[in-house]
Amino acid sequence: MTTKPNPIDMAKYVSARRALDYVQDGMRIGLGTGSTAAWMVRCLGEMVRQDGLRVTGVPTSARTAELARQCGVPVATLEDAKWLDLTIDGADEFDPDLSLIKGGGGALLQEKIVATASDMMVVITDKSKQVDHLGAFPLPVEVIPFGWQTTKALIEESLIGMDVAGRSVTLRLNRDAPYRTDEGNMILDLHLRRIGNPRQLALVLNQIPGVVENGLFLDICDVVIMGGADGSVEVR
Ligand code: 5RP
Repeated sequence: MTTKPNPIDMAKYVSARRALDYVQDGMRIGLGTGSTAAWMVRCLGEMVRQDGLRVTGVPTSARTAELARQCGVPVATLEDAKWLDLTIDGADEFDPDLSLIKGGGGALLQEKIVATASDMMVVITDKSKQVDHLGAFPLPVEVIPFGWQTTKALIEESLIGMDVAGRSVTLRLNRDAPYRTDEGNMILDLHLRRIGNPRQLALVLNQIPGVVENGLFLDICDVVIMGGADGSVEVR
């Protein structure tokens, strides 16, 4: 399996490679989901196969679990690993406080559980994900299928009193059918444009029955690594 990126993937590749500086022999590592995290898994596999690195990976999606196995990274469930030394994952947006929006790839629930069960979370991104205020990227909210339209209406109602610039909520689709997460849930994307108070919003959303989790990652991320298309790397 190649680990040589094309120019478009260069930014993702260099941030993924730099994140592996945080990996030490024997670590239990949360493996994120998405195209940037996939580069990290491929590079980690190379370290396992070529350098004899011994790690245990806890994947955050079925996709990542399959890739990890293909790359030779030993995998375990979070139940087996219990607590992790490090999680490396991508993000859809990050702000100056290292607050994140995640879930563009639909794996936010497992990603948040795994990152929260880790001593450290390193986020791998490119510069396009850096924002002054979260919210330009639609905020994913995972909801259970039962009564999802009622849940959507309650979310819309809760947004009326919120410091946000947009309030439309859409059901995520996959080939004209509702997108389903690994848990069989649905995703509602909240088009908020600007989130004035992410903490308040996260609390309000998670109080609505039917909401499983939201894509705001607050006080979870420790380090953001930004790759550039020219191969440069910046660490926050
Ligand atoms: C998946 C995620 C991803 O980390 C996020 O969507 C970034 O993906 P990519 O690295 O492909 O841009 O949150 O649920």
